[in-house]
Amino acid sequence: MPVLNGKELRIVGFLCNWCSYGGADTAGVARAGQPTDLRIIRVPCSGRIDPLFIVKALLNGADGVLVSGCHPRDCHYSAGNYYARRRLEVLKQFLPVLGIDDRRFEYTWVSASEGQRWQHVVTTFTDRIHKLGPAPRLEDAEPLLKIADMALTSLRPLGTGQNAALDDLKAAIKAKLPELDCVIGWQQGYDAAHTVPLFMRTPEDVDKLVWGPFNVNNPATYLPSFKGKKVGIVVKGCDSRSVVELLQENLIKREDVTIFAMPCQGTLDMARVNQELGRYSAIDSVSYDEAGVTIVADGKEHRFCMNDYAQGKCYGCTTPSAVLADTRLGTPEAVQPGAYTPPELAMLDAMTLEERLSFWKGQMERCLRCYACRNACPMCVCRDYCIAESREPQWMTQEATAKEKLFFQTIHAMHLAGRCTGCGECQRACPVGIPILALRQQIARAVAQLFDGYKPGLDPEAVPPLLGYELEEKNIHEREWK
Ligand code: FES
Repeated sequence: MPVLNGKELRIVGFLCNWCSYGGADTAGVARAGQPTDLRIIRVPCSGRIDPLFIVKALLNGADGVLVSGCHPRDCHYSAGNYYARRRLEVLKQFLPVLGIDDRRFEYTWVSASEGQRWQHVVTTFTDRIHKLGPAPRLEDAEPLLKIADMALTSLRPLGTGQNAALDDLKAAIKAKLPELDCVIGWQQGYDAAHTVPLFMRTPEDVDKLVWGPFNVNNPATYLPSFKGKKVGIVVKGCDSRSVVELLQENLIKREDVTIFAMPCQGTLDMARVNQELGRYSAIDSVSYDEAGVTIVADGKEHRFCMNDYAQGKCYGCTTPSAVLADTRLGTPEAVQPGAYTPPELAMLDAMTLEERLSFWKGQMERCLRCYACRNACPMCVCRDYCIAESREPQWMTQEATAKEKLFFQTIHAMHLAGRCTGCGECQRACPVGIPILALRQQIARAVAQLFDGYKPGLDPEAVPPLLGYELEEKNIHEREWK
């Protein structure tokens, strides 16, 4: 008989087989009254619970999700719940950025003998969900298409890097080239206002190398495909963090990679540049000064000041100089470290939960599901085995609905938890300009808060926090069920 009066809501429970499922059984055997809203899914261990199970349930109509496993030190696989605790806590802090109230998800520990505790947990959680009411559905949200103006404040003056030591860099690459199979950098693209990746194998190739605010691609994306080869790479500061993260995860070998670095003064947000240029048939000229770029297209002059047209990631960049390099050229850039919220995330922070849900509904309706965000990401290394396209298990359908597309973005963001270096390639590659970097930034913020300011891609020896655990977590506290 339901303990709570009123209509049942949809609550999904993921319970570890050995403790919490036993605890629920004990409560049942003892005839302890419980609400009937909960639908239990039995899993071998809380460590088996992928945070995406929870997001999928919430996006598909669950009003609440409860996870319960063995108490710390009691996991029957010794450490499953320790890993789960970190992942689930990150998820809890991530849900609000999607527009989902984090009170709709909870995790706890109940042992097989704690029938009474189980009764208390399930009654308290169900009561909470009833107070919150049925969860707002993405399908019912009114799409919000307008992207608010972002406040572009910077930790340092941005510039075009026109005094960079490009000739010295070319000389250094040419000297090292005989020992390498290839060096990755940038060359001019179809006009002087665009660049494309350059794969240098001869001194003539090296002469094509360019440096400046149009070098937007992250060349580290290509490194894993050169596995087993000796490869050089030219990096900006943010690119170097991706190289370090690849080293942290043993996806490349340090002895195979030669890093050439120059300090970066910022790169242009090509989406906004192209928007300003509009339709044109030819770029007549591109000229630089320290503060910005002047582009003449079809005889019309356009001025792009770096402080106004840089990529969002550049405004809060704390690593303009490479964190790891074999050859460094130029003078390191000084940065005043300080608290900083990236513009995309600040825009979402200013919204209510309902507005965020509407925002993602509107943005996901524009998504082409082209996977450019995934393909450009240097840390998205599964590629051919991406679960977004897998039929077995089938995580998601190929339907072009906002829900499926938002779930794909959540997969990408959660798979980058504690790994994303914030290079912004996902957002830059998006052909329709969806600010998807904000999802990764929210996870990065949660990871930094939970794990003593941890930032991925700074230390090749560091273990990414979601690949480890502490018996007593300093910043994750067991929740009280009062
Ligand atoms: Fe229960 Fe691992 S077996 S949490």
